[in-house]
Amino acid sequence: MCLRHSATCAYYHEEQPLKLENRIAIITGGGRGIGRATALELAKEGADIVLAARTENEIAAVADEVKQLGRRALAITTDVQRKTDVDRMVSETLDIFGKVDILVNNAGVAIHNPIPKIREEDWDVTMAVNLKGVFLCTQAVFSHMCGQKYGHIVNVSSVSGKYGHVNGGAYCASKFAVIGFTETTNNEGRPHGVKSSVVCPGPVDTKMRRDNHPDDVIEHLTQPEDVADLILFLVSQSPRAHTLETVIRTPLM
Ligand SMILES: NC(=O)c1ccc[n+]([C@@H]2O[C@H](COP(=O)([O-])OP(=O)(O)OC[C@H]3O[C@@H](n4cnc5c(N)ncnc54)[C@H](OP(=O)(O)O)[C@@H]3O)[C@@H](O)[C@H]2O)c1
Repeated sequence: MCLRHSATCAYYHEEQPLKLENRIAIITGGGRGIGRATALELAKEGADIVLAARTENEIAAVADEVKQLGRRALAITTDVQRKTDVDRMVSETLDIFGKVDILVNNAGVAIHNPIPKIREEDWDVTMAVNLKGVFLCTQAVFSHMCGQKYGHIVNVSSVSGKYGHVNGGAYCASKFAVIGFTETTNNEGRPHGVKSSVVCPGPVDTKMRRDNHPDDVIEHLTQPEDVADLILFLVSQSPRAHTLETVIRTPLM
């Protein structure tokens, strides 16, 4: 029952058009957490979805959920640190769907330690996934998006990209860098109709957060769907709107 309009209101039965009809979206790290929620949110608004992460059964399960919403879905096993994986994933997407309109660079890892205890291999993997992965995926779709004069690349940074907190040496450095890379992507893309935005969530109730902070009060955490809503808002804005950066603060920050 519509609470704002009477039954005689002309708008009463009108269906809202889907915001992302005929859009093709790649979501890295789409097998769980923020990536899964984003996949489902974008699919509800009409987008067909490509899920790219390493754990095959997780992305396959999310692909099934997307199909249950009536959209097409591909699950492509991808390690975003590896250029060959990323290029194959984008080329399979283009072969099957013909285009890429939206890329959500969401795949990420978080290994927290004080500076004296950061292992070199943890620093390297953090940069390789959180930063190089964003670069490789962006590069793989960027010329295509410029050629079609449309595209939106959303990078998932963090409040740890705004604030260098204790134990966050590698993670914060990678997430600060993602914000700078987003700005360059947006500036290079804008003349060609390609936007880039970065979202900086505070603590979100996902496996990553629970593994690193088992003592969290869950009620204080943002839920993955809240971040997905924000990403949907960004990719649904009018072509003239350029929202470069959004920050979600929570009681834990
Ligand atoms: N949770 C938070 O509090 C929070 C706050 C701010 C920002 N973020 C950011 O949000 C993003 C999503 O994190 P989440 O919290 O949803 O964590 P999550 O539940 O652990 O999900 C991380 C996703 O990234 C994928 N991934 C990790 N390494 C990958 C690789 N090398 N190649 C491809 N995919 C990879 C994982 O899949 P596989 O392991 O199967 O590859 C998984 O699908 C991350 O960038 C994270 O830094 C999280």
